[in-house]
Amino acid sequence: MAIIKVTSEDMRAVDAASSEMRDYFKALSLKKNRPLTYNVHTYGCQLNESDSEKLCGMLDSMGLTPTSELSADVILFNTCSIRENAEDRLFGNLGEAKGPKKDNRDILIIVCGCMMKVPENVDRIRKSFPYVDLVFDPQQLHSFPLLLRNTVRSKKQLVNISDDDYIAEDSLVPISRGRKFRALVPIMYGCNNFCTYCIVPYARGRERSRDFGQIVDELQGLADQGYKEVMLLGQNVNSYAGEDGKKFPDVLRAAAEIKAFSRVRFMSSHPKDLSDEVIEMMASYSNIENHLHLAMQSGSDKVLDRMNRPYKIADFMRIVDVFRNKVPEGSLSTDIIVGFPGETEEDFQQTLDAVKRARFDSAFTFQYSMRPGTVAADFKDQIAHDVVTDRFARLLELQNDLAYKSNLAKVGKTEEVLIEGESSTASDILTGRTRSNHLVNFKIPDELKLKNADGSFSCADNYEGMLCKVRFTHARPYSVDGIMESIVND
Ligand code: SAH
Ligand code: SF4
Ligand code: F3S
Repeated sequence: MAIIKVTSEDMRAVDAASSEMRDYFKALSLKKNRPLTYNVHTYGCQLNESDSEKLCGMLDSMGLTPTSELSADVILFNTCSIRENAEDRLFGNLGEAKGPKKDNRDILIIVCGCMMKVPENVDRIRKSFPYVDLVFDPQQLHSFPLLLRNTVRSKKQLVNISDDDYIAEDSLVPISRGRKFRALVPIMYGCNNFCTYCIVPYARGRERSRDFGQIVDELQGLADQGYKEVMLLGQNVNSYAGEDGKKFPDVLRAAAEIKAFSRVRFMSSHPKDLSDEVIEMMASYSNIENHLHLAMQSGSDKVLDRMNRPYKIADFMRIVDVFRNKVPEGSLSTDIIVGFPGETEEDFQQTLDAVKRARFDSAFTFQYSMRPGTVAADFKDQIAHDVVTDRFARLLELQNDLAYKSNLAKVGKTEEVLIEGESSTASDILTGRTRSNHLVNFKIPDELKLKNADGSFSCADNYEGMLCKVRFTHARPYSVDGIMESIVND
C-alpha cells in the first residue's frame, strides 16, 4: 500500500474521459429528448459530504443536472461504514433503485465510499445487486470520470478497488458546493490512529496532508467568492503535516487571517494531538469559532487503553480545563461510545462522572457497533445488547440535561448568529448557529423582513449566509429560540 500523489499530468486522462462521458450523455439526452439528471445520496461524515461535492462537480462537468428524484439517470450512493446501521441503510436504498433501473436500462447505478473498502460489502453487491454498474473506493474519487467511462464502454459491472492511497490536489477536481455560505475544506485525508473499534483507517487509508500553499489558495478563492464560513476537515486535523514543516496551527492562522471569513471551524481534533496553541488561537481570533469538538470516547482509562486511545482521562480533563479557562464563553462537544467490549458497570460510571465533570454542551453518543476487520471485533468480551441499551439511555438522560442547561445559559443574552436558512418547521423562522455552535431558531420582526421589489416577503432562504444579532428568549433540549435584533453589515 503506497501513497501516490496525483499530478495534473495524470488528470489529463481523467479530463479526456470526462469529455467522452459528456458526449455520451449529450447523445443520450438527444435520444430521450430531455435533459439528463443525477442524484447523489450521501451517508456519513463531513468528509463524505465534501467528497460528494466533488462527485457532483464531476457529474455537472459531464453535462448532467442534479435532482432529488430517485429515478435519475445517474444514481450514486456515497456510503459510510462507521456503524452497522449506516450500512443497513445503503442496502435498503439500493434495493429501491432496482425498479427505476428495470424501467430504464440506461440508468447508471454507482456505489462508492467507505463501505466499499470492506470486501464483504463488495461481495454482497456482486451477488445480490447485479444491476449496480460501478463500484469504487474513496481513494479513487478523482478518477471517477475514468471509471464511469470504462463502465459504459464495457457494458458490464465494474468493481475497481485500489490498494493504494491517492492524494489528488483538490484544485484539479471540479466542486459543486452544497451550501451557499459554508465551504468544506479538507486539509488532510486518512487516519493512522487505528482506534480498535474504528473502520476509518481501513476505509480511508494512511494519513496524507494537502500542500499548505494549495490550501491557502483555495481559502483565498473561497473568500473572493463570498463564502462566510469555512470548515477545515480531517479525521485528526491536529496531525496535519504540510510542506516545510507546516502544522495545523499554521493552517488555522492562515484561515483566520482572512477577514472575509466570519467563522472558521475545524473537525476533528484528537486529544493526543490537540495543542494549547490551538486553544489560545481560539481565544485570540474572533472569527475562529469558540467551539471545540474533542472525542472523549470513554471515561475509563482501562477502556481508553483497549480502544487504543493513547491518553488518560486526566489528560483529557486537563484540556477541558485549559479550554474552559481560556475560552470561557466557548462550548465543548464530544463523541462517546457505550458498551465497548469489556466495559464494566464501574467503567461506565467513570464515563458518567467524566461527562458531569466536563459539562459537555453537546455530545454524539453511540452504541458500540462491531466492525469486521477491526481489532476490537475479535475481543471476546462483547457486551450484551440489553446492557448496552440500558447504559446508553442513562448516558443520554445525563447528556440531555447538560445540553439543556447549556442552552438555558444563553437565555437573555444577545449574540451574533450565522444564518443557515429556513427552519424546517416554519418558513418565517430562521435557523442558524452562534459562534459557540449553539443551534438557534428565531423569528424575524416585520421591520427586518427583507421584502421583494413588489413588497412581498422574501423567501427566508435569502438570509442564508448573513450574520445577525439574535436575542435568546427560550431554551429547548437541543436548541435555543430567539428573535432577530439586527442584521450585521459587513
Ligand atoms: N476522527 C474522529 C472520529 C470520526 S468517527 C475522532 O477521532 O474524533 C466519529 C465517531 O464515531 C467516533 O468518535 C466514535 O465515537 C464513533 N465510532 C467510530 N467507530 C464506532 C463503532 N465501531 N461503534 C460505535 N461508534 C463508533
Ligand atoms: Fe477512527 Fe480513531 Fe481515526 Fe477517529 S482517530 S477516525 S476514531 S481511528
Ligand atoms: Fe463514515 Fe467514512 Fe466518514 S466510515 S464517518 S464516511 S470517513
